[in-house]
Amino acid sequence: MQIENIPQAIRQCAQVAGLLWQKGWAERNGGNMVLRIGESDVLQLSLEPSGCVFPCGCSVPLLAGQYFYCKASGHRMRDLASSPLSYGCIICISDDGMQYQVLGSGDLKPTSEITAHLLIHNQLVAENSPNKATLHSHPTTLVALSHIDSLCKDAELTRILHGMIPEARLFVPRGINIIPYFEPGSVELAEQTLQAIKGCDIVLWRKHGVLSTGPDMMEAFDNIDIMEKSAEIYWRYRTLI
Ligand code: 13P
Ligand code: ZN
Repeated sequence: MQIENIPQAIRQCAQVAGLLWQKGWAERNGGNMVLRIGESDVLQLSLEPSGCVFPCGCSVPLLAGQYFYCKASGHRMRDLASSPLSYGCIICISDDGMQYQVLGSGDLKPTSEITAHLLIHNQLVAENSPNKATLHSHPTTLVALSHIDSLCKDAELTRILHGMIPEARLFVPRGINIIPYFEPGSVELAEQTLQAIKGCDIVLWRKHGVLSTGPDMMEAFDNIDIMEKSAEIYWRYRTLI
């Protein structure tokens, strides 16, 4: 399919995937994205159900019948950037909110972090939030800081990062909540992320990466970009004093 025939919100996901690669936060298949899309987007793509059904790994009743564009598991952001439908897929959540079906050929499976993304989307719908995008990435400096125990206590990291540049407090006012290391793709990681996201803008997964939400994928990216910039300034400042 020609890129101009792909819905704008999915084209923006491709643009963000390119930025993540340029930033150096998307080594190999690192990171993933999930965007809630409308039925009209799916009609525009003329995709049929593939018959491939998988468990959500959790109960997401508020997402019944909803469609999502997801990075495909094991695939690279830098490939998705130029071909979003070859390295990303559309899923539809079942009526009982326990399973999803992949649309299209069924050759691609959504990201291994799908459970975390879906739990957050279910919460966003419950809150009537305008946010439709969830983005997981591996920003280098934030992940480096997540190795330091003293920074990962209470709201210490948010306090420090808010103090580095004015944009951090202005655009990411609720800051970062931090959770311990859990196995990537695990239900524990998903459930802890759901608890942690309440009341903050970004969840930092210690020694792994971050998860952010936004009205669209670009704004979810902006949150991470601002806090990573702040983290870089903190790191450089600490080397200078
Ligand atoms: P996926 O390729 O399954 O999306 O996994 C990437 C990742 O970053 C896991 O945390
Ligand atoms: Zn990851």
